[in-house]
Formats: sequence, C-alpha cells, structure tokens
Amino acid sequence: MLILGIETSCDETAAAVVEDGSKVLSNVVVSQIDIFAEYGGVIPEVAARNHLEVMMPVVRKALEDAGKTWDDIDAIAVTHTPGLLGSLLVGTLTARTLAIIHNKPLYAVHHLKSHIYANWINADSLPEFPLLALVVSGGHTQILRMNAHNHFEIIGTTRDDAVGECFDKVAKILGLPYPGGPAITKAGLSGDKNKFKLPKPNVDGLDFSFSGLKTAVLRAVQSELGLPISHPSYDLKNHLSEQQISDFAASFEKTAVDYLLEKLEKAYEMYPETKSFVVAGGVSANQALREESVKRLPNVFFPEPKFSGDNGAMVAAAAYFEIKSGVAPTDPYKLNIMPRSAIN
Ligand code: KG4
Ligand code: ZN
Repeated sequence: MLILGIETSCDETAAAVVEDGSKVLSNVVVSQIDIFAEYGGVIPEVAARNHLEVMMPVVRKALEDAGKTWDDIDAIAVTHTPGLLGSLLVGTLTARTLAIIHNKPLYAVHHLKSHIYANWINADSLPEFPLLALVVSGGHTQILRMNAHNHFEIIGTTRDDAVGECFDKVAKILGLPYPGGPAITKAGLSGDKNKFKLPKPNVDGLDFSFSGLKTAVLRAVQSELGLPISHPSYDLKNHLSEQQISDFAASFEKTAVDYLLEKLEKAYEMYPETKSFVVAGGVSANQALREESVKRLPNVFFPEPKFSGDNGAMVAAAAYFEIKSGVAPTDPYKLNIMPRSAIN
C-alpha cells in the first residue's frame, strides 16, 4: 500500500511516499530554519505563509522522487494536530483538496503518533509490545504505553514547557542559535558537563517540569557572572566567555537527558512487563540521549536521525498502522483541529 504523507505542523513543509508503513520511496522536507534562526524562534504567521509557497512543489517532488503518479497512490495522510494553527491549515486544506480531486481516502493523523511511528521506518528490527514511548519534541514531553499498534495511554507528561522548548530557551540565554538542540550539543562538546550542578525539578510520578530547569540555568548564569537576578536574560550572553557557554551547554544537556531517563526508568519499574522502548520527536536526534538510554535501558529504539524531526514519511507510516488497525478515513474538518496535547 502506497501512502502520501503530508506534514506542516510547525516550520517544515514535508511530503513523502511510503510503502506499507516502512519503505520510504521519497522524503522531501523544506525547512524554514534559516528564516527563524535570526529571530530565535518560529513566528506562526510567517511559517504559514512559507508553507503556502512551497506546499505544492514539495508534494510534486515527493511523487517525482518516488517515480509514482497519482494513480499509484492508495491514500493521503496529513498531520491534523497538534501544531501551529495556520501551518496545520495549509497542510490539511492541501491534503483534503488533493483527496477530493484525485478521489483518494484521507487520513488525519495526530502529530505525536507520527513521531512514534518514525521508529518503524526503514527498521531492521521492530519494537515489541508492550512498549514505553518517550515523546520529546519542541511542543511535547510525554511517556506513553502502547500494548498494541494504534493504542496509546499517556502515563506521564510535562506540566509546563516541553524539553525541546527548554533546549531552545536555554540556547537563547547562552546566545546560541535556533533550534537550540543541535546548537547546545555542538557548544557542549568543548564543555565540562559536571561544571554546574543544576537541580532537577521535583515532580511526582512520571510527570515532568522543564520551566524550572530553564530558570535554574538562568539563575546559575547570573550567579556565575556575579549579576543580580533582575539582570535581563537577553543581555547575559554578552558577558559569557566561550568556555562558560560550553560548560553551561554541556551541564544543561547532561541534566536534561538524565532527568528524561530517570523518569523513563521509573516508568519501567512501574511496568516491568515492558518489552521495548521507543524514543521519538525532534529531541530524539540528541546524541547524548541516544548513548545514555541504550546504556540504561534494554531494547531501545530511535528513528534514523533524518526521521527524528518533522517529516512526511512518519505521517504516512502512522496512517498505515491506523488503516491496519481498522481506522476509517477521516476528514480533518470533522475533527477538532485546535491544538490539543493528548493523543486520541
Ligand atoms: O519534533 P520537532 O521537529 O518539532 C515539534 O514537533 O516540536 O522538534 C523540534 C525540537 C526543537 O525544540 C529542537 O531544539 C529539538 O527538537 N531538537 C533537539 C535536537 N535536534 C532538534 N534537541 C536536542 N538535541 C538535538 N540534537
Ligand atoms: Zn514534531
């Protein structure tokens, strides 16, 4: 079965053709990172306008790269939530229009399901159920249980910021570019990860808090520089040396990774029948998280790095497993398209 997957939830315009939920025939991603790097974050209105400009060329290229025509496509899948409303509208309207014109079934897919299913793409071995999924992206930080395909139970979630957002905000304090994740890793390579002891927010159970960690970095930077807590965060970067930036980046990354894995280990204690772990979302590209998790947990799966961030292939993969689970085609305009945090 060939599915065309379309993704526009944030600042990537993406389309892909995937066979049977795992074999990627094409994967086209146009990122707006260059536009937003200088602003330090995404501007929703600008993101939506950029999606509009490249949406159709991206879809055409996905078909062309796959060597397929509309006749070959069995279904269209599109991200319908969560994400930036204007960005989501471009993808869902495009997918719905194409489904009507070409008479294809349409599947509206939840973005976090797609991130999880990136682990089934081009995989040599597959995760086994029951599994625990750690979803770590710019907008979400959750631990989910899956007993079977397309069955999700959220058992832990952030009470405030997402871990990716925390990487982005800490990068901004340190004067590093957007997106913060890769920039923090790069700066941290020449840093001492044990230099600054940052407290891990104390939240009960499997929930997370990342706004506390971001504030802890802010206070540690102010204290290191001998500046008062009233000193504006945007000016701190002008006082930091290269070495201090590297030490803060390395110390923050170590603390964030450790915090995520402590919660995942706790989840394993609560659900010892777990057979595998999947890590998903943009932050799953993080090298330290990859290395530490395989040391600390058994049978850990990660997407290929190019499928960690937002892409159309994971949307097609998630739709394939929805179809296999008996889910009927969905019109995104009959669903609640407003951003929601829960998978349902
Ligand atoms: O999943 P994603 O591409 O978009 C959302 O659905 O939010 O995730 C984007 C987030 C950003 O916050 C970015 O800083 C983070 O993923 N990220 C990373 C890395 N690559 C991207 N965080 C840590 N380490 C990385 N290597
Ligand atoms: Zn994402």
